[in-house]
Amino acid sequence: MATSILRTSRTKPVWSSLARARFSSTAPKNTTLKERLAELIPLELENVKRVRAEHGKKAFGPVIVDQLYGGMRGLPALIWDGSVLDADEGIRFRGKTIPECQELLPRAPGGAEPLPEGLFWLLLTGEIPTQEQVTELSKDWAARSAIPEFVEEILDRCPPTLHPMSQFSLAVTALNHNSAFAKAYQDGVSKKEYWGPTFEDSMDLIAKLPNIAGRIYRNVFGQGKLPAIDPGKDYSHNLSTLLGFGDNAAFVELMRLYITIHSDHEGGNVSAHTGKLVGSALSDPFLAFAASLNGLAGPLHGLANQEVLLWLSKMQAKIGENASDEAVKEYVWATLKGGQVVPGYGHAVLRKTDPRYIAQREFALKHLPDDPMFKLVGQIYNIVPDILLEAGKAKNPWPNVDAHSGVLLTHYGLTQMQFYTVLFGVSRAFGVAAQLIWDRALGAPLERPKSYSTAAIEAMFKNK
Ligand SMILES: CC(C)(COP(=O)(O)OP(=O)(O)OC[C@H]1O[C@@H](n2cnc3c(N)ncnc32)[C@H](O)[C@@H]1OP(=O)(O)O)[C@@H](O)C(=O)NCCC(=O)NCCS
Repeated sequence: MATSILRTSRTKPVWSSLARARFSSTAPKNTTLKERLAELIPLELENVKRVRAEHGKKAFGPVIVDQLYGGMRGLPALIWDGSVLDADEGIRFRGKTIPECQELLPRAPGGAEPLPEGLFWLLLTGEIPTQEQVTELSKDWAARSAIPEFVEEILDRCPPTLHPMSQFSLAVTALNHNSAFAKAYQDGVSKKEYWGPTFEDSMDLIAKLPNIAGRIYRNVFGQGKLPAIDPGKDYSHNLSTLLGFGDNAAFVELMRLYITIHSDHEGGNVSAHTGKLVGSALSDPFLAFAASLNGLAGPLHGLANQEVLLWLSKMQAKIGENASDEAVKEYVWATLKGGQVVPGYGHAVLRKTDPRYIAQREFALKHLPDDPMFKLVGQIYNIVPDILLEAGKAKNPWPNVDAHSGVLLTHYGLTQMQFYTVLFGVSRAFGVAAQLIWDRALGAPLERPKSYSTAAIEAMFKNK
């Protein structure tokens, strides 16, 4: 039954012993992230060369016509090293589950959640950085955080009615004005050196996102003047301050967890794949990530966290607080009968409860167990999967990450749901940027899969 599903599977991670040997589990001390990457890149180039020599001509399995019509589900098509998603177990970042990341990655003094700085190091190198390395990253990002005046002006001139995600995408696109990669390419940089300026752009991109997000939030929702970034504080603390929540230690902790768990979900999801695809044309990281954001802004992807809150609020308005299970069931069925999806439930790959949902639920149990909206989320969790199973369409009736995030943000007073996907976007930059850097380091080619017309498919199978 749907009530006992907070479980983990016994599936082994897709993380070979060879990969473990290549990427040892802790980072060597006294090295910067860029220096460490420079050491790892030649090793990985050799490794990929070997894998291709040994396995390059082997078939990966059959492709069936339904996959072409069916959104390419399950089609093996991409290399993505930062994270791997198992249908039953959920995400692993360089082989590490979310609880393992919570245990192993450095934390802020007095904090319990991992610092996203450490997660970025892990995504890029497969190694757990030291506390000092993470502090250096916080400082580096703080130093790079200012956005050009003309980008501030673009944001200030956006009407508040323009969705925050559209504003976000505009600003990130405009950052391409100062792209180190675009300039280096114009100056004739060698292919072998592509990863260096891509790294610099990616660091700038991540560093500048809090100032962009904070400016959008304050412009659209009228929350006063943007404070300055504090180079002595970590990334999530600064982001929280820019949003006006820096004094709330629990909110800052939530941001650390939130950015960590939303960062990467292997390569086939819309935002990750779009970033990789656009990057493959050697568009710089700002252009590539702006494209990711446009995909993240869709209601079947990142906008679902906004949709969940909207749906929950409408439910509460209709059936009241502390509604009976029967009233909730009726509301869920009305949603389905109205031809709409239940937001926050289902997944294209996952077939169990999303561990990102579980991590947020555990955070809520620790910090806000009596919040009425959290209780409603728990009540829905006990009701929706059975209904989706009975309706018989969704392949995965369990909740995904978006079913929970909005409730946590609302609890702390960040109630403007149109803004939620912007926070998802800040986090997703970490995963997309890490892969863009590796793609340039490994010389990933232009993506150009083959498309077919229905007539061509019919012709292909006519006499078979
Ligand atoms: C995430 C999602 C887009 C995955 O899509 P998918 O891989 O095509 O999912 P499925 O193969 O299970 O879909 C089969 C059918 O079940 C439906 N379905 C899937 N999830 C559903 C949900 N939460 N509520 C209602 N119906 C759902 C699909 O719309 C589809 O219907 P169709 O045959 O009429 O087109 C889908 O589950 C969904 O729309 N969920 C709600 C939005 C959401 O939470 N998105 C965030 C994802 S992290």
